[in-house]
Parts: sequence; structure tokens; C-alpha cells
Amino acid sequence: MSTDHERQACLIIGAGSAIGGAIIRRLGTENPDCDILAVCRRPEALPHTADACLHTFACDYTEPGIIQLVQQLKPWHGRIRLVVISTGILHTGTIKPEKRVEDLHMDSMLEVLRVNTVMPTLWLSYLLDAVRSDIPCRVFTLSARVGSISDNRKGGWYSYRASKAALNMVIRTAAVEYARRAPNVKLVAFHPGTVDTELSKPFQRNVPQDKLFSPDFVAERLLTISSDLPIDGDASYLDWAGKSITW
Ligand SMILES: NC(=O)c1ccc[n+]([C@@H]2O[C@H](COP(=O)([O-])OP(=O)(O)OC[C@H]3O[C@@H](n4cnc5c(N)ncnc54)[C@H](OP(=O)(O)O)[C@@H]3O)[C@@H](O)[C@H]2O)c1
Repeated sequence: MSTDHERQACLIIGAGSAIGGAIIRRLGTENPDCDILAVCRRPEALPHTADACLHTFACDYTEPGIIQLVQQLKPWHGRIRLVVISTGILHTGTIKPEKRVEDLHMDSMLEVLRVNTVMPTLWLSYLLDAVRSDIPCRVFTLSARVGSISDNRKGGWYSYRASKAALNMVIRTAAVEYARRAPNVKLVAFHPGTVDTELSKPFQRNVPQDKLFSPDFVAERLLTISSDLPIDGDASYLDWAGKSITW
């Protein structure tokens, strides 16, 4: 058993998401030697667990909130081997993915870009010192296949597509800098497939049953892919099967 000082950690940002929650549950059963750092807006709403490895943190995801949270993680700096950023919105009470250009509204588009692009970007910025160490660390940001510019044949969902395409560009750009400043870190834009969660609920009708994944299936896929992924100084855009998606 490793001592408190040697224990590695996995950081899950967006612990309140269905996918983030499933990853936390899997890590809890499969990695008893690893601290799990779970960040979300309302940790009190997370399912109760007696897991001593689980440490929960509240964050409002504002820039000062992110800075403060990274400070709270100080005891684990240099010992983080996996980061998953699984926050993201497609629809809210007032936002719907756009079908036509006439559906576009500035406030809605800005909110989707704020949550899906700017927030993960701030994490990549403020976490640099926390993940920079001799320990290899994989950072998975939940993207989506619809963020692929070269693969866009169907159109629609302007704001969501744009937010994920911009996120992908941030990940590729950050990978260039991380390769220099934090060479033991691998950055990944991850497409989980269509997963049965609140986010995809209104859009599941045309998805074949065998293509609608459970959060637990995707959690298993992400953790398996992560464990085999070489630290190569480059960003990867991968789907749930571990296959590359064209940017
Ligand atoms: N489900 C799918 O089919 C699918 C497909 C492709 C990509 N993805 C991506 O996978 C990720 C996780 O999706 P999910 O399906 O697990 O979603 P989910 O269960 O609906 O979780 C939503 C996540 O977004 C955060 N969030 C929601 N509204 C927010 C707001 N207004 N401000 C800040 N954060 C907010 C939540 O934060 P808290 O943790 O603080 O509650 C939570 O982590 C997203 O990035 C999504 O785009 C999902």
C-alpha cells in the first residue's frame, strides 16, 4: 500500500455529469491505490459513498473559482496521472441546438461557447503546474465527433459544433505548448459516442439501441484507452473505440 505522500490521483472535473460519475465509480472499484478528486458545482448532490479515496470539491467554474480550486488541489500537484474534463451543454431550459441559421441567438451561442470551450480552456491553463511532473498524465477533455470540421456533412447544431471544434483547436494548440513545458502530459479530445444521459435524451429517438451507450460502458472505454495511450507530445482526437477522428 502506498503512503499518503506517494499516492497518485485522478482528477474528474464535471463529477456531476453522467459520464464523469461513471468514471468515478469505476476508478473507485478498480484503483484503490489512487485518490479520486471529484470537482463539480454541487458535491452535496453526488451519490453518497463511503470510499475513503474520494475527495469532493465544489467549484462554480468561474475563473476565480477555477484558480481557487487548483490551489485546493496543491497536496496532489505532481501526482495526478489522469484528468477528465466532462462538463458540457447541448441544451438547457432556454437553449436548443439550432437547426437553421435563423435559430441562432447571441446569448445562447455565447453560453454554449463559455461552457464547452472557455471553461475547459481555463482548466488547461491553470492546471499546467499541477500536472507537470515525472508521472505520465493523460488529460481527456470530452469533445464530440460533431466538432470535426472535416467530418461535417449533416450541418445543424451551430453553437455546439462550433464550441467543440474550437475546443479541439485549443487542445491541439495547448499540446504544442505542453510538449515543451509539461512533456509527460498527453492531451486528448474524446468522443464518447451517443451516451444515454440528460444531454442526449431529447435526441436519442433515431439512435439504434446498440449505438446508445451506457455511461458505465464509456467509462470503461475511456479508462482502457487511457491506460494504453503513449505520451507522444501530440494531441489525439479519439472516439470510444480508440479510433482516431479526423480534425
Ligand atoms: N451524452 C452524449 O451522447 C455525448 C456525446 C458526445 C459528447 N458528449 C460530451 O460529454 C460530456 C459529458 O456529457 P454528459 O452526457 O455526461 O452530460 P450531463 O450528464 O448532462 O452532464 C453535464 C455536465 O456539464 C456541466 N454543466 C451543465 N450545465 C452547466 C453550466 N450551465 N455551467 C457549467 N457547467 C455545466 C455539469 O456540471 P456539474 O458536474 O458541476 O454538475 C456536468 O458536469 C459533455 O462535454 C458532452 O458534450 C456527450
